[in-house]
Amino acid sequence: MRVGVLTSGGDAPGMNAAIRAVVRAGLTHGDQVFGIYDGYKGLVEGKIEEFTRKHVSEILNRGGTILGTARLPEFAYEQVRKLAIKQLEKNDIDALICIGGDGTYTGALRLSEMGVKVIGLPGTIDNDIASTDFTIGFSTALNTACDAIDKLRDTSSSHQRCSIIEVMGRECGDLALYSGICCGAEYIVTSQTGLDKEKLLNDLKTNRLQGRRHAIVVISEHMTDVYQLAKEIEEYTGYECRATVLGYIQRGGTPTPEDRLLASRLGGYAIDLLHEGTYGVACGIKNNKLVSTPLADALKMKTKRNESLEELVQNLK
Ligand code: F6P
Repeated sequence: MRVGVLTSGGDAPGMNAAIRAVVRAGLTHGDQVFGIYDGYKGLVEGKIEEFTRKHVSEILNRGGTILGTARLPEFAYEQVRKLAIKQLEKNDIDALICIGGDGTYTGALRLSEMGVKVIGLPGTIDNDIASTDFTIGFSTALNTACDAIDKLRDTSSSHQRCSIIEVMGRECGDLALYSGICCGAEYIVTSQTGLDKEKLLNDLKTNRLQGRRHAIVVISEHMTDVYQLAKEIEEYTGYECRATVLGYIQRGGTPTPEDRLLASRLGGYAIDLLHEGTYGVACGIKNNKLVSTPLADALKMKTKRNESLEELVQNLK
């Protein structure tokens, strides 16, 4: 088989490990593997190169993606996708492995509807793909967020301040929820929990009156203007308050062993599925078992509320 591999959307640590696994497993099966640069954009532009083992050596532990990535909203147009298919035909590529998040999966599904043999691999720090327990990159981003929050706790407690820390996650609260629990945050606000500002302010005020020296609030991006919220907390509770937006630092760095392992397993699994004649699916891991889900279903599955972890947060207050 001649298999193409691309990374698309926001980069995530572990994408390189996934590319490496696809290339190595493909070559082991006797395939030819082609790296497609800069996501769907590069595919449309024909930025395609045949990969050898050497192309993917020394990348297992590297953050980012050696293939580069891009967001291409125009891929929603059939005309643009037809250009992509022309490039696949020109290079005699039989099947495509697309590594990314839900935008990447949507592109993959559209290509699959047009007859392309596609497999999706979940690569995003957001953990917002419900057809897998964990996405490649989430573990590393969680580590980065925890490291940063631990540091902020040091200064926050020394100064008896309230620290608001905004983490990424787009529509999914997992980064906030997991990092908040791991770092003992007093409050965790996500799009799943919602922001009850009045309650937050009152609770923080009570905490302060009860003698708690400092407080940590972890909040998902896009919930509110955290700098404005910090001002309101200062005015209402008496805590000095500082807001920190962790931002793109969460997307970089050396992938954790968990991400390397997940990426290696999923990359190899994608090649196995192609050889079995299975495509049009998203690969994932559920209860430590490799699973494949039709792309259309993977996209329909909404990221569910993690009720048991939310309950844990309440119990640990
Ligand atoms: O999907 C990954 C992610 O980092 C989200 O957490 C964030 O909302 C978004 O990408 C930022 O996208 P961009 O790189 O286009 O600014």
